[in-house]
Amino acid sequence: MPLSQRWTLTRYLIEERRRFPQASGDLNALILDVSIACKAIARSVAFGRLDESSGRPAGGEVNVQGEEQKPLDVLSNDLFIRLNEWNGNLAGMASEELELPHQIPSKYPRGKYLLVFDPLDGSSNIDVNVSVGSVFSILRAPQDVIDSGRDVVDDDFLQPGTTQVAAGYAIYGPTTMLVLSVRNGVTGFTLNPNLGEFILTHPNIRVPEDTQEFAINSSNSRFWEPPVKRYVDECLAGKVGPRGKDFNMRWIASMVAEAHRILMRGGVFMYPRDTKDPAKPGRLRLLYEANPIGFIMEQAGGRASTGRQPILGVKPTALHQRISVVFGSKNEVERIERYHHEPAVKAPEHALFTERSLFRD
Ligand code: AHG
Ligand code: MN
Ligand code: MN
Repeated sequence: MPLSQRWTLTRYLIEERRRFPQASGDLNALILDVSIACKAIARSVAFGRLDESSGRPAGGEVNVQGEEQKPLDVLSNDLFIRLNEWNGNLAGMASEELELPHQIPSKYPRGKYLLVFDPLDGSSNIDVNVSVGSVFSILRAPQDVIDSGRDVVDDDFLQPGTTQVAAGYAIYGPTTMLVLSVRNGVTGFTLNPNLGEFILTHPNIRVPEDTQEFAINSSNSRFWEPPVKRYVDECLAGKVGPRGKDFNMRWIASMVAEAHRILMRGGVFMYPRDTKDPAKPGRLRLLYEANPIGFIMEQAGGRASTGRQPILGVKPTALHQRISVVFGSKNEVERIERYHHEPAVKAPEHALFTERSLFRD
């Protein structure tokens, strides 16, 4: 299709807004500034080590999660903050890399939205040149924050995922893409590096309801709870097992990249609660990883769950709360939920399943 007939992200947002004649345009302006942060991060990611002398921060600090920050984690966080704090559309921000919410400096006006983000997801993959991404969630600020313009506190962000106004991610892979939902399905845009614009390339993305592909970090298998063990065992048993079909497995260790694969061709992703560190109810963070990706999955006809309940229905209790995550093709996620609700079943007496299972007790 000639470029002149394609829609830019700006045009998509304007056409969407026309459905709401009373809308102010603040949300569109905010999403466009988020997209600029993503473009800036994409450039930095693409330059890799070449970019090291150009003022990239040192990294090496440990963030609130107890994880070492890579220079690009710090840089990406800074880009998200600096490119969004000035625009008058935000009441505050929260980031994986910041223990406390970021306050909008007094020299700028404050607005009605909250921006919550993981500026660089999968950053352990940076050094090995594998896809990384950014994830963001946009919430409406509580009314008293909007009315008073007061500083934001953790509590203001503790809203269930169902209340998200918009959510999305950017993936920095062979191409840079922005995948977005403004509560009207899921749309994908590819960065045209010649124009520096996100161009609509993937209208109405839908997650296939069935799949033969799953993703889980199986090095944790000895810590899994029985329903997860059962599910994975049944997938591994393949054609001759209870599922009667062979499964394929993937693990990229970038949730954004896994989510993107699942949006493109189906699949199921699990980072379930396990017994490895009983203090941690999961690996991924609810507000800026599970909720935005969960929202995108559900908007695309997939499903996102803790294994026990829909992710989007969980009322958050802390800004950096971790949670058990299962998302992807609807029928598989529902099956995994069923396994969590059924009383523990003894493994069926199936030869391969019981004798040769990799993940047998
Ligand atoms: P982050 O880089 O923002 O800390 O997130 C990494 C997350 C997620 O993207 C990925 O699915 C998971 O951590 C990888 O976990 P393992 O190291 O256990 O594979
Ligand atoms: Mn992450
Ligand atoms: Mn991160």
